[in-house]
Amino acid sequence: MVVLGEEMYIRIESGEFVLWDGSLETLAAAFPGKTLQAIEAFSVLEDVPFGAVGLAGASLFIYLAYDSVATAGELYYSGTPLSLEIAAEGATGTSYQLFTDNISTPIIQTRCIICHSSTGIASATVSTSQLQYLAATEPDFLQSNYNILVNYIRNATDGSELILAKPQGMEAHLGAVQLVEGTDEFEAFEAFVNAVLSE
Ligand code: HEC
Repeated sequence: MVVLGEEMYIRIESGEFVLWDGSLETLAAAFPGKTLQAIEAFSVLEDVPFGAVGLAGASLFIYLAYDSVATAGELYYSGTPLSLEIAAEGATGTSYQLFTDNISTPIIQTRCIICHSSTGIASATVSTSQLQYLAATEPDFLQSNYNILVNYIRNATDGSELILAKPQGMEAHLGAVQLVEGTDEFEAFEAFVNAVLSE
């Protein structure tokens, strides 16, 4: 169940969110008749373009609930909601813009993916590399490749340094020199990394 401003929505079986009036009679389960295991993994929200539907700047509160055949009629639910804020357009997104304009085609698709893919010499199977990109022919390649890079820059050990050093042939990059300091390409890549770090 999602609270958005004055309104409440429930997730129904089809995965859609529908307006809910708050009464138990109309409360429908997202996963009816499911036997819950000790630990259940599931997606609450995925790939929802909130900004596009005019929700930029809004806050969502998400409650999870389940019922049980052991005690019919009782509902167990989270007392404290998961909360998330949808950033206003322009407040974030600089790095994504830089990625789509200057990084994806000239750098990732032209200079990195030949090795950094699921089948190249920097694949997860034959190398230690955590960077495997999707080709421009795959659906969602822009968003996926962006997420892979951002995750590496923010979360990998020394990620924000290695992402600039390795393609210059430093830190024993098996891919040798792919970007040269001082070139427009390198500067664009550096600007992208800095934008990710500052967001
Ligand atoms: C000729 C093949 C090749 C190319 C082209 C290549 N790389 Fe690599 N890269 C590798 C291999 C193999 C590794 C794993 C071993 C190592 O760290 O050198 C790697 C590792 C890396 C790592 C470390 C990954 C990790 O998980 O820590 C980074 C960062 C990196 N590459 C960046 C780049 C960037 C950016 C480009 C494009 C501008 C690029 N590479 C192009 C072969 C390549």
